[in-house]
Amino acid sequence: MDIAGKTAFITGGASGIGFGIAQRLLANGARLVLADIRQDHLDEARQFFEERQEGRNVHTIRLDVSDRAMMREAAKECEAVMGGPDILVNNAGIDPSGPFEQATYQDWDYGIAINLMGPINGIMEFAPGMRARGRGGHIVNTASLAGLTPMPSFMAIYAVAKAGVITLTESIRDSMAQDNIGVTVLMPGPIKSRIHESGQNRPERFRDGSGFRKNEEQLAQRVVADSWMEPTEVGDMIVDAIRNNTLYVSTHGNWKDAVEQRFRALMDSMPEAKPFDFSATLAVPRKPD
Ligand SMILES: NC(=O)c1ccc[n+]([C@@H]2O[C@H](COP(=O)([O-])OP(=O)(O)OC[C@H]3O[C@@H](n4cnc5c(N)ncnc54)[C@H](O)[C@@H]3O)[C@@H](O)[C@H]2O)c1
Repeated sequence: MDIAGKTAFITGGASGIGFGIAQRLLANGARLVLADIRQDHLDEARQFFEERQEGRNVHTIRLDVSDRAMMREAAKECEAVMGGPDILVNNAGIDPSGPFEQATYQDWDYGIAINLMGPINGIMEFAPGMRARGRGGHIVNTASLAGLTPMPSFMAIYAVAKAGVITLTESIRDSMAQDNIGVTVLMPGPIKSRIHESGQNRPERFRDGSGFRKNEEQLAQRVVADSWMEPTEVGDMIVDAIRNNTLYVSTHGNWKDAVEQRFRALMDSMPEAKPFDFSATLAVPRKPD
């Protein structure tokens, strides 16, 4: 699809990868609605675009993607202010990692609520409007290479959520295609961002009872390496993916061997196929004879 003249709604759009995607979509003629839990990130992003005389093409909304009522209101506000969206980017995410033995239900609920339910909430609240407008469109979900590559237990919550985002994107493809809405799952490797500030972004209701407080403090000290990819480079990949309706976008090839080993082991675990009557397993009522 063409990007010029379209409206893009981007969660986590005021920092890191989301902001990189925002810049490249705007440069290709889109209008932006940036939604983010951090008002300071939104203010910075707004100032960035105003300084470039692009303020009229950018609207900001404070949103916690795990809050369905807020997501519903954001969909209404987006439509009222900018129209659409034609492009939905479910990108907001956090790093909920820590020693697996210390993970509490709060940590699981937090990690899944933001990183997996966030994209699900976005699709549930925005897709009906996108379908109803009948203009087609595109949905991008940000997962991670951590959803494909075997990960250590330290990253279990993150990897579970991101694997879910990959499967979510694959499995809605046929339904969205009926309304001419394409889908892309973005699987980044290391990208320059502020994800190390995740501890600050943990919604209030997930704070008490976390086993990862110390870890979040350590994460906050992590330094962004020069060798990590620029978010605008990811933005260019997403512009291409939207134009060409590409399902998978991986930013790095560095984990190819690990992914290949994983899939080889999965293939090896499967016995030779035997003739099988699938109709007996389908939950469709038989027509009376
Ligand atoms: N940076 C990387 O190396 C990397 C690698 C793989 C995947 N990712 C994924 O990319 C996405 C973007 O992360 P990033 O690295 O650019 O980090 P970032 O922290 O720079 O940007 C994420 C933005 O999302 C916002 N956010 C956090 N929780 C939110 C919530 N509940 N509701 C709305 N907004 C919220 C933050 O305030 C921030 O502005 C995430 O889904 C992350 O898991 C990042």
